[in-house]
Amino acid sequence: MRLFFALWPDDATRAAVASAASLLNLRDGRPLARADLHLTLAFVGEVPEERVGELGAMAAALDMPGFDLMLVAAGWWRRSRVAWLAPDVVPIPLQRLAAALRRGAELPVVDAGSFRPHVTVARGVRRPPGLLASFSVPWQVRDFALVSSNSQGPGPHYRCLAQWPLRDAVFD
Ligand code: 2AM
Repeated sequence: MRLFFALWPDDATRAAVASAASLLNLRDGRPLARADLHLTLAFVGEVPEERVGELGAMAAALDMPGFDLMLVAAGWWRRSRVAWLAPDVVPIPLQRLAAALRRGAELPVVDAGSFRPHVTVARGVRRPPGLLASFSVPWQVRDFALVSSNSQGPGPHYRCLAQWPLRDAVFD
């Protein structure tokens, strides 16, 4: 099965992301279903089903703080043909969480700069979309998830298999 760790938004955040995504004037491509919206932390890839338990135990043992995220940027990548929303500032706890999951899942180490957190909002986008208005989507991140990808059949492509809380953040 194909797995990845992700930030999995609650319904209110999902609605806010979908509403911000509607400000992109897509000239082609397919918007993601609202139920599929997420932010990938660490892409594990194809693994045997037996690894789910092991990855879950690793994730459950992490003790990392929650954080607040603000999605304010939109963009498009020519190579992967995705349009996305993203924060303009990547909070340090987000970088640390992604790095800890990569380490725990024994994925190759990458430098911090190559982690480009984003929420893909449309795929198959060949022509750069414009942005009709600015937006700002607050996202209070208090947990993270292990998600499986399922390319068969109708309905959502992604399934949240398990979620773990992040510890209370201390804001001063
Ligand atoms: P994308 O949205 O930018 O395409 C499930 O496919 C999730 O994992 C998506 O968020 C996807 O990012 C991401 N993903 C897929 N393949 C990946 C890879 N090789 N490296 C990093 N992330 C990947």
